[in-house]
Amino acid sequence: MLPQLATLLLLPLGALAAAVVPLTPRAVSPDMTCGSANSRYTCPSEAKCCSKYGYCGTTEDFCLTTAGCQTAYSNTTSACQPPKSGVSLSIDGTCGSTGAGKNGYRCPGNATVTSCCSAS
Ligand SMILES: *[C@@H]1O[C@H](CO)[C@@H](O)[C@H](O)[C@H]1NC(C)=O
Ligand SMILES: *[C@@H]1O[C@H](CO)[C@@H](O)[C@H](O)[C@H]1NC(C)=O
Repeated sequence: MLPQLATLLLLPLGALAAAVVPLTPRAVSPDMTCGSANSRYTCPSEAKCCSKYGYCGTTEDFCLTTAGCQTAYSNTTSACQPPKSGVSLSIDGTCGSTGAGKNGYRCPGNATVTSCCSAS
C-alpha cells in the first residue's frame, strides 16, 4: 500500500520537472541561429545580439532595439541597444529626428561624406 501511494505522488512531480527543464537554461547557438522565430538558441558572446530574423551578430542590424533585436535570446541583457542619435546607422532609410526620422539615425557614409539627410 505505501509504495503504491509513493508512486502516485511522484508521477505528477516527474511530469512537471520534464515540462520545466527544457526551458532553462537555453543552449548557446552552435550555428548563429537564435530566437523565437528560429532555433530558440541564445547567441554566443562573440556575436551577442539576436536579430529580429533569428540570427546572431554584432552590427546595428542585429543589435538595435528598433531593428527588432531580441533581448531574451541575446548573450547579455544589455546586448540590444536603442539607437544613439546621430551615431546609429540608418536601418530603414530614415535619418535625423525631424519628419520621417524618429530615431536620430545617421545616413550611411563617414565624417567626410555626410550630406544625405533631408529636412523631412
Ligand atoms: C554567452 O556566450 C558565452 C560564450 O559564447 C556562453 O558560454 C554563455 O553561456 C552565453 N550566455 C548566454 C546567456 O547564453
Ligand atoms: C569616406 O567615404 C568616401 C566615399 O566612400 C571615401 O572616398 C573617403 O575616403 C572616406 N573617408 C574616410 C575618412 O573614411
